[in-house]
Amino acid sequence: MSEQYIYPVKPEIARHAHITEALYQADYQRSINDPEGFWAEQAQRFLHWRAPWHTVLDYDYPSAYIKWFQGGRLNVSENCLDRHLADKGDQLAIIWEGDDPNQQRRVTYKQLHAEVCRFANALKAQGVGKGDHVCIYLPMIPEAAVAMLACTRIGAVHSVVFAGFSAEALKDRILDANCHYLICSDEGFRGGKTIPIKATVDKAAEQCPGLSKIIVVQRSGNPVNWQPGRDMWYHELLAIADTESEPEAMDAEDPLFILYTSGSTGKPKGVQHTTGGYLLYAAMTHKYIFDYQPGEIYWCTADVGWITGHSYVLYGPLCNGATTLMFEGVPTYPAADRCWQIVDKYQVNIFYTAPTAIRALMAQGDDFVASSDRSSLRILGSVGEPINSEAWEWYYHVVGQTRCPIVDTWWQTETGGILITPLPGATELKPGSATRPFFGAKPEILDAQGQVLTGVAEGVLTLSFPWPGQARTVYGDHQRFIDTYFKAYPGYYFTGDGARRDEDGYFWITGRVDDVINVSGHRLGTAEIESALDLHEHVAESAVVGYPHDIKGQGIYAYVTLIVGTVPSEELKRELIAHVRAEIGAIAAPDRIQFAQALPKTRSGKIMRRILRKVAANELDTLGDTTTLADPAVVDDIIANRLNR
Ligand code: PRX
Repeated sequence: MSEQYIYPVKPEIARHAHITEALYQADYQRSINDPEGFWAEQAQRFLHWRAPWHTVLDYDYPSAYIKWFQGGRLNVSENCLDRHLADKGDQLAIIWEGDDPNQQRRVTYKQLHAEVCRFANALKAQGVGKGDHVCIYLPMIPEAAVAMLACTRIGAVHSVVFAGFSAEALKDRILDANCHYLICSDEGFRGGKTIPIKATVDKAAEQCPGLSKIIVVQRSGNPVNWQPGRDMWYHELLAIADTESEPEAMDAEDPLFILYTSGSTGKPKGVQHTTGGYLLYAAMTHKYIFDYQPGEIYWCTADVGWITGHSYVLYGPLCNGATTLMFEGVPTYPAADRCWQIVDKYQVNIFYTAPTAIRALMAQGDDFVASSDRSSLRILGSVGEPINSEAWEWYYHVVGQTRCPIVDTWWQTETGGILITPLPGATELKPGSATRPFFGAKPEILDAQGQVLTGVAEGVLTLSFPWPGQARTVYGDHQRFIDTYFKAYPGYYFTGDGARRDEDGYFWITGRVDDVINVSGHRLGTAEIESALDLHEHVAESAVVGYPHDIKGQGIYAYVTLIVGTVPSEELKRELIAHVRAEIGAIAAPDRIQFAQALPKTRSGKIMRRILRKVAANELDTLGDTTTLADPAVVDDIIANRLNR
């Protein structure tokens, strides 16, 4: 990497930054040499505890036993709301911008606290208690924040399901997490379209006999189906709810939420996070990585249905007493200047989004950016997938006018918060590199045999020591948690990602090394999409791989063999795409479907995905060895009919 690609730390940022290079070096060393002392100090600094812990950390990676701050008691909503009331009661907690640019709401800490208290009481009145599981299927409206915080106030565990998932996918998640309660809206708005939220819930609920109460937020006001006794209006429950609510003192290791994510097998995993460690890690990373300063307006574009929405729209910012912006819509509606209009409208200082959004906006041309001022912007962030240097440079030069450092943050649903990232006042930037570990993070690159590689190296990315935000289990299946993350490389947490470390010790994430693909920053298991395709009556077998896609990062390429006698057609392709949408959601819809006579398999019957990935990427000269195939002629047919050329 030559010098010209290194962007030095900006003195004007470093001057006021929470973390400078000298501080980073000193505190990083301390966090590694004395993790318990370091984290105990942070836990005191960032959180309000009802009772002190007796043990900072107790862990055993082989059995995936991880406990932080045992004995400590605290409440998440109290940390995010009550303790700000004295000095920030009238400060905005949430700025909400509707899909329609004429709709907005401003919610102060006092108002948010009051509504959360009332909704917490409303939930209690409906029988929701400590430890109960509540499914939340809401669009990006302030009530999503209220619902999540109200759950934490009474010790209920929320499972937020992204409101773009289909009824089928929602049903699977309701059943897996054993949710008896669900909070949704009548409808949602995105990009000028109306999203039928309650209708989707009704369909899912048909197959969820345990789901006894559904609380509905009125968003559109359009009529929806109603099942008396089961369905209740949010505003009606609030109207009769008490305003006083004592936060439940939770154990630091009590479950806080479950959030589903894809793995390399078909069934999504309910990743479980706990109370104390997660909140500490979300708050501390938010403050230091975005260099959040009091009074600043912070905007993370993620949906609350994903971990980024949990940690960096809601919990991190609110725990720090920040003003967080929630956006209901999409970056291209009504036009591709929407983000920058919002930045100017609210004088946003920190903007955090995904590379796919940056690439999509870049493709629309600079005029959409140039028409705005954006001088309020100070820090830019990127998350969810590797950012290509072209998109990075555009973000830096055009959006940020070379004034704003970009924090390229690497992390995962399972990590709870950011683990590898630049710090605005400390880290020299290299476009495309997530740079260096955050405090307490000990990334190691291993080779396929599990040997630790030192110096300049490329291999699988692991972490050799726990951090407070780490997931504790897969809900209902601890063995799966062990098998997925702690078995392949004993003594290490295995991320599923590959990485390279350069001569400056900077990390470059190279992408997933398992059968997970990253489509527009959304993580999808190829096995999940295959299972959905295989359910279709005309499909005999399918294999799904990712291929390079200019905007989405990776596109979805499906190879499908049909039941004998089925006539392949464009119409059938459309039907299969609609079928996957119905089974999972629009995010999983294949971009390309290739009908094949057969799939390339080894003699033992294993599909050779390596070859399918190469064909999908149109990299035919690096197909590799095909002699181990049961029938090499299958590849010729697949190459002849490939779609991506
Ligand atoms: O492959 C990595 C990629 O996204 C995966 C995690 O996806 P998910 O659990 O949905 O969380 C997304 C938001 C944190 C990782 O295993 N990923 C995430 N951030 C980056 C990234 N890849 C490269 N660079 C990043 N900054």
